[in-house]
Amino acid sequence: MKSISLLLSFAASLALTSATPFDNNAIPAGASITLPRSLSSSSSFSPLTRSNHKKKDNWGNAVEKDRKKIKIRASKHDRDDISDDFLWAIKKANHGGLVHLEKGKKYVIGKKLDLTFLKDVYVKLDGELKFTNDIDYWQKNNFYYPFQKSITFWVWGGKDIKIYGKGVINGNGQAWWDGFSGAEILDPKNKFYRPILFLTDNATNIEIAGLHLKDSPCWTTFLVRTKNVVFDNIYIDAVSTNVSSLPKNTDGFDSLNVDGLTVTNTRVNVGDDCFSPKPNTTNIFVKNLWCNGTHGVSMGSIGQYPGVKDYISNAWLENITLLNGQNGARLKAWAGPNVGYGYIDNITYKDIHIENTDAPVVLDQCYFNINKTACAAYPSNVNITNVKFLNVYGTSSGKNGRVVADLKCSPGATCSGIHLENINITSPAGAPPQIVCENIQGDVGVTCVSPNATQT
Ligand SMILES: *[C@@H]1O[C@H](CO)[C@@H](O)[C@H](O)[C@H]1NC(C)=O
Ligand SMILES: *[C@@H]1O[C@H](CO)[C@@H](O)[C@H](O)[C@H]1NC(C)=O
Ligand SMILES: *[C@@H]1O[C@H](CO)[C@@H](O)[C@H](O)[C@H]1NC(C)=O
Ligand SMILES: *[C@@H]1O[C@H](CO)[C@@H](O)[C@H](O)[C@H]1NC(C)=O
Ligand SMILES: *[C@@H]1O[C@H](CO)[C@@H](O)[C@H](O)[C@H]1NC(C)=O
Ligand SMILES: *[C@@H]1O[C@H](CO)[C@@H](O)[C@H](O)[C@H]1NC(C)=O
Ligand SMILES: *[C@@H]1O[C@H](CO)[C@@H](O)[C@H](O)[C@H]1NC(C)=O
Ligand SMILES: *[C@@H]1O[C@H](CO)[C@@H](O)[C@H](O)[C@H]1NC(C)=O
Ligand SMILES: *[C@@H]1O[C@H](CO)[C@@H](O)[C@H](O)[C@H]1NC(C)=O
Ligand SMILES: *[C@@H]1O[C@H](CO)[C@@H](O)[C@H](O)[C@H]1NC(C)=O
Repeated sequence: MKSISLLLSFAASLALTSATPFDNNAIPAGASITLPRSLSSSSSFSPLTRSNHKKKDNWGNAVEKDRKKIKIRASKHDRDDISDDFLWAIKKANHGGLVHLEKGKKYVIGKKLDLTFLKDVYVKLDGELKFTNDIDYWQKNNFYYPFQKSITFWVWGGKDIKIYGKGVINGNGQAWWDGFSGAEILDPKNKFYRPILFLTDNATNIEIAGLHLKDSPCWTTFLVRTKNVVFDNIYIDAVSTNVSSLPKNTDGFDSLNVDGLTVTNTRVNVGDDCFSPKPNTTNIFVKNLWCNGTHGVSMGSIGQYPGVKDYISNAWLENITLLNGQNGARLKAWAGPNVGYGYIDNITYKDIHIENTDAPVVLDQCYFNINKTACAAYPSNVNITNVKFLNVYGTSSGKNGRVVADLKCSPGATCSGIHLENINITSPAGAPPQIVCENIQGDVGVTCVSPNATQT
């Protein structure tokens, strides 16, 4: 027994640095492939190969230790592009393997990458993956998404994808923020498109865990046409060193046509939305999320585009901390002439701690920026139903006076099943704090004032 296990561990420790019997392709300089124990030992005498007791991951695939491991060389400096090596590695690791990017090493990506062919692959990122800030290159070479004119460096798609470790994905955003210089992303004349740091498209089962997503040029993550995406233990920040160029639009999480979006144990330190699912996002679960300086945790906006149906449904958001922001817990649906339609249904915000925030609780069915008269003439066609705010506490910034919650529905539109319970938000502007309600059908569970009452 002893000699067999010694032999096995010896075989497992062999890092194959040249072509293996399993693969005749050349290996790039500095790369290596290591087989797992169960494969590297000859099956004729290995008791492990026949074992039926191998652990499986959540999707029924091999766990880390049973995977073929691929390593590539690291970059020597910030322009030493290893994107070809990375693409080689991920192809090699596809169908059951793992790419390992090691601690203390930097891997620079200077070319756009189409990673939509994946099927059962792990990327263990303990080092730093950093994008070049060659603005000319990226503005000519990227993946474009018409929704809010987004571009990205790379696209992740396929099935059963896990990206995890203690490493960093660095968007190298400073040059982008400086170049953008405060322009508006939605300005139709704007042509300075900035890349999204992490984007999935047509993906099923994808998990991102442990990573630091740093300095995205634009939105930090965008999930498109994706089913079952999980972020756990993520840190997101975007910090500019130039006081005259803010890291604008660096949203933590955005989504479009996504079913199954989970974010847990995550901290976000950006100057825009912390978490804001966009059209057609269903089955959302958020727990233990911390947001600082953000525009809050928002459902929407949806219902923007004429003739288009949008929806967001079944969201559970629990134990969220929102500090120093513009908004806290928010829902927004468009009203006005030439807008879309749809619904927001079954949303629960529970145990929400808000501090120093301008508008702690917001329901806005008269979005975007339309006045009372216009909202009455063109009420929203996005029904908002079954929304609960449970145990929401803390302080506003006082910017909106004593108003700590502002719930504004379109007159005559469907806005029902709105329930508030155990709300204790105070305002430095004075007591008692006010909750404003307008055009909501049915009882909301707390004492409301009409908007007129706040004008004094
Ligand atoms: C989505 O991915 C699947 C494989 O996972 C593929 O068969 C299908 O063609 C892709 N769809 C699109 C629109 O790219
Ligand atoms: C800071 O940003 C401004 C524009 O936002 C830009 O004009 C200026 O060059 C930047 N400063 C540095 C040191 O890059
Ligand atoms: C709530 O989330 C915070 C992180 O923002 C975490 O430290 C805390 O343990 C969580 N509380 C519970 C009860 O899970
Ligand atoms: C929160 O954000 C503010 C700026 O909005 C910043 O000054 C502060 O350092 C941040 N706090 C933490 C704990 O990151
Ligand atoms: C949302 O889904 C509906 C179909 O249910 C579709 O018509 C619409 O185009 C989708 N919205 C977006 C923005 O993709
Ligand atoms: C409402 O959403 C929750 C998840 O937050 C889900 O468990 C529940 O089934 C949904 N209710 C309905 C009626 O769909
Ligand atoms: C909105 O609610 C109205 C009234 O209940 C209903 O007739 C309409 O079909 C709903 N619209 C959508 C998109 O669900
Ligand atoms: C409301 O907005 C409409 C459309 O922008 C404008 O014509 C109208 O004058 C505004 N009314 C008030 C009272 O501000
Ligand atoms: C509301 O919160 C304050 C502290 O922010 C606390 O002193 C007060 O007891 C709370 N009120 C209720 C009813 O829980
Ligand atoms: C609020 O004020 C407007 C005029 O500014 C008035 O038409 C309306 O009747 C008032 N509503 C209530 C509930 O007092």
